[in-house]
Amino acid sequence: MSNTSNIRIAPSILSADFSILGQEVSAIDKAGAEYIHIDVMDGHFVPNLTFGAPVVKAIRKCTTKIFDVHLMISPVDYLIDDFVDAGSDIITAHIEAGPHLHRTLQHIKAKGVKAGVSLNPHTPIESIKHVMDMVDLILIMTVNPGFGGQSFIPLLDKISEARRMINDTGRDIDLEIDGGVNPETAKQVIAAGANVLVAGTAVFKDGSDKYAENIKALRPSA
Ligand code: DX5
Ligand code: ZN
Repeated sequence: MSNTSNIRIAPSILSADFSILGQEVSAIDKAGAEYIHIDVMDGHFVPNLTFGAPVVKAIRKCTTKIFDVHLMISPVDYLIDDFVDAGSDIITAHIEAGPHLHRTLQHIKAKGVKAGVSLNPHTPIESIKHVMDMVDLILIMTVNPGFGGQSFIPLLDKISEARRMINDTGRDIDLEIDGGVNPETAKQVIAAGANVLVAGTAVFKDGSDKYAENIKALRPSA
């Protein structure tokens, strides 16, 4: 189990109102989000398209919170520098985006930002065993990536195993869960060892007046 006093909430701006994206980022900052989760999709690795580095750069002006950039793109390496220059703090690539995850992580780390690896629901956690010394964040997808608002896939054994692998390293590696997180599933993933919760639908509902309440409802004390 993770230290529950140290849970971080990472609202996914995929569920924000894109017509006022800057205001939405400021609103979740003020509402208490620790990370801003930024879903980049290419219409190829996943069946949906979002935005690229210029949009990330534009919203960098709206907050000083950690930019947690989730790249659902393939190939990935040729765009890493653009996302670093746009102001990313953490860049996460998918192991399935291939072909050379080790090289991708080396590239991200060489640019001086934190490196994350994401796993789709079907990918065994053991597949990242040989890069554990390079990663700062492990992102376990609990939906198939591409869309917000899907139902949580209960991969709790995978999350627990990831927490064991992290503890074995003795390093401070974030264990982040993405997909279908709501106040109920948040409890389950925290109990299994997660310490960073991505949430789109559960945060961006009922208008910006409710964002603080929605974020609070995901925390262990709720
Ligand atoms: C899905 C994205 C998620 C998504 C989560 O591919 O990576 O970050 O926005 O949305 P909810 O919280 O609605 O499942
Ligand atoms: Zn995401």
